[in-house]
Amino acid sequence: MTLYPDQLISPATRAFLARPKRMLIGAEWSAAVSGETLAVLDPATGQAFATVPAGGAADIDRAVAAARRAFESGEWPKMRPVDRERLLLKFADLIEANAQELAEIEALDNGKPVMMARHVDVALVVDFLRYMAGWATKIEGSTMDVSVPLMRDRELFGFTRREPVGVVGAIIPWNFPLLMAAWKVGPALTSGCTMVLKPAEETPLTALRFAELALEAGYPAGVLNVVTGHGDTAGAALASHKGIEKVAFTGSTEIGKLVGKAAIDNMTRVSLELGGKSPVIVLDDADPAMAAAGAAQAIFFNQGQVCTAGSRLFIHKSRFEKVVEGLSGIAASMKLGPGIDPSTQIGPLVSAVQQQRVLGYIESGLAEGARAATGGGAGGEAGYFVKPTVLVNAHDAMKVVREEIFGPVVVAMPYEDLDEVAHRANDTPYGLAASIWSNDLTRVHRLIPKIKAGTVWVNCHNILDNAMPFGGYKQSGIGREMGRAVLDMYTESKSVIMAL
Ligand code: NAI
Ligand code: MG
Repeated sequence: MTLYPDQLISPATRAFLARPKRMLIGAEWSAAVSGETLAVLDPATGQAFATVPAGGAADIDRAVAAARRAFESGEWPKMRPVDRERLLLKFADLIEANAQELAEIEALDNGKPVMMARHVDVALVVDFLRYMAGWATKIEGSTMDVSVPLMRDRELFGFTRREPVGVVGAIIPWNFPLLMAAWKVGPALTSGCTMVLKPAEETPLTALRFAELALEAGYPAGVLNVVTGHGDTAGAALASHKGIEKVAFTGSTEIGKLVGKAAIDNMTRVSLELGGKSPVIVLDDADPAMAAAGAAQAIFFNQGQVCTAGSRLFIHKSRFEKVVEGLSGIAASMKLGPGIDPSTQIGPLVSAVQQQRVLGYIESGLAEGARAATGGGAGGEAGYFVKPTVLVNAHDAMKVVREEIFGPVVVAMPYEDLDEVAHRANDTPYGLAASIWSNDLTRVHRLIPKIKAGTVWVNCHNILDNAMPFGGYKQSGIGREMGRAVLDMYTESKSVIMAL
């Protein structure tokens, strides 16, 4: 990290980077059984700046065993809901107290702008954990008056309980490392589960700092275990492990299907948050400047590495030129730079693989006849930068319109009427999100039920709230995170019938 001026990296972050990186298994900070490690690269330069253990199946076994012990015995299963609430609030306080350090680590590890990491990622993590903490004391069952034909002479009483599902295996991606960790850890710990978290190999660092803070908050050993490692080894071992009751996955649809199949073989509960190809629909009454700014935020936030990225932009033909002009102007003006620089608006993509993948999509679009209104290639001298890109002259059958690009690339296309745009918006295997830009309430309300997506935004995009369930239709996943709905993913329902 000698590359960056001293003032960009705080002493706390330097101290974290200087400590040897170990995985948290039970109460122990440990290396991989195999002794193998993996290098962590700075996406702004391609240089390695940290090393973490490359955990494998043997490490997953140890972590699952530690989580099992913590689930079955010791203080955790006896803890009162209010004590679980207090612990999670303490954990959130510690994250808030270390927000700048966590944001800097996230920016160095993922490449994202540090201001975003601080005011979006870490801020959302703190709020989310506090929101989830409140649920610990509000997990309820119901009572029922039951009617059973052959027991007319007996008094019967029925009730349901919700119980923690057990040991949870969580596999998370690199685009929002800390936030995705929180989305799994929050519901698991508030409901009394224990867990093994496997962060993405590209971005393992904040999960390790997160684990340190969990211990500092006072979580008993084994409640949260973190195993760093590759997907096809550590990830696959966790997804197929017979010792877990639930697997929670966020990542690509391709790997999500593998994880889902592995889980079903053991009948492990599974929730999947997968990819998207979300439409942004601009109606003919929308203000072009506002729509352009909204469309820019929808696709360029987090370098477009967002499952809900607004990557297909449908603009009413009467507004098309103006919105594309506004959007291209914003794209061209965005400042590329390393995430750790507070003036950066667009950081590098997470890895060389992702950069090549995104550049490959741009090339395929151009080869199929699209034109780049702005951008259209790599940026920066070193590192994995891609210029914010707006493609026009596109049609619905192009690969860039069909497949998830996961980069700062939007395809803008004109449309003529609402039925047409609803049909085209749904003409995708995905169904994660959509946004509609209009102040015409009637038409907006008519469009909302037609869109097959788990979230529909109106005059905004990429806005998440802890109370709102989040998840996908179609190949964007199974299950919901956040809100009350997520508790169903981390608890089992038990029906009790008593004959008095
Ligand atoms: P990925 O789906 O391979 O990685 C996500 C997580 O799954 C990581 O922790 C990885 O280690 C783990 N994993 C990989 N293979 C596994 C396996 N066989 N069993 C169990 N776990 C496994 O995503 P990747 O390769 O990093 O990105 C590829 C594409 O996926 C991106 O270009 C993007 O289109 C999409 N993606 C979508 C995300 C989303 O939030 N919806 C997040 C990350 C990627
Ligand atoms: Mg992969």
